[in-house]
Amino acid sequence: MTHTAEREEKQSQATRIDGKAIAKKLRESIACHVDVLVTDHKLIPGLAVVLVGEDPASVIYVSNKKKSAAEAGIRSFEYNLSKDTSQDELLNLIQKLNKEKEVHGILVQLPLPKHIDANAVLETIDSAKDVDGLHIENIGRLMAGMPGLVPCTPLGCIALIKSVENNLTGLHAVVIGRSNLVGKPVAQLLLRENCTVTMAHSRTSNLPHICRQADILVAAVGKAKLVKGDWIKPGAIVIDVGINRTEAGKIIGDVDFDDVSKVAGYITPVPGGAGPMTIACLLGNTVIAACRQNNLTVPSIG
Ligand code: GUN
Repeated sequence: MTHTAEREEKQSQATRIDGKAIAKKLRESIACHVDVLVTDHKLIPGLAVVLVGEDPASVIYVSNKKKSAAEAGIRSFEYNLSKDTSQDELLNLIQKLNKEKEVHGILVQLPLPKHIDANAVLETIDSAKDVDGLHIENIGRLMAGMPGLVPCTPLGCIALIKSVENNLTGLHAVVIGRSNLVGKPVAQLLLRENCTVTMAHSRTSNLPHICRQADILVAAVGKAKLVKGDWIKPGAIVIDVGINRTEAGKIIGDVDFDDVSKVAGYITPVPGGAGPMTIACLLGNTVIAACRQNNLTVPSIG
């Protein structure tokens, strides 16, 4: 094959960013840090996972989080509450977990049933144990560029991007989606990496035109196969955070993978991209929280 043909061949198919493999490496590195904490400091990081109701997707997420925690040597404490649990009962449980010395991280799986005010719940979690990074104090710390706990999926997105491009300075990043869980925090992290960031969302005019300017495109809008190949700047890094279920029960992303793969330089699959990174980063946050609560040096994870 000639060099040109080789280049064209490369251009015709984006390189897949293997989130599953990157997350596995990250979990292994976290397990080593946990080993050190246990051996040198008799400290077992502990994560409380609270699930209210039986939303099928949430049940699977929570079980995966528990399994991954155990594999990394992190102790998990599981609370499966009935869908009729009152807000007061949930707040009382969180207040109890805030005081537990063996619990370093608290995660309340979202979404919560409609009768519960999710913000009131998130604000009740001790910000030092808020491994989801959703407490207002941690949101503020992220905005101000101060140390805190950062939401897991955005952390995972940055790790995926940096697995293929370490220096993001000056790159134009477009984020589609403005949720507190992904869109807003990932934009902050991209700013921290010196990107020029455009925030787009479902009401943005001329979205394809804006996306075509992106060196990095993060899609977190919850619309199956929204992003098409002709929205992509050739060679761009495309991170798909969408989790959409088809009628046949298949999970697909916000990006039309086959079409976008013809133009992008790098692309994450769904499943097997951002999803596994979220769990790995949750374990990382639990270790960070455990170290801070015990006045130990926080290891650099990753
Ligand atoms: N539901 C979907 N993603 C998440 C997440 O990252 N954290 C929590 N707590 N709930 C979720």
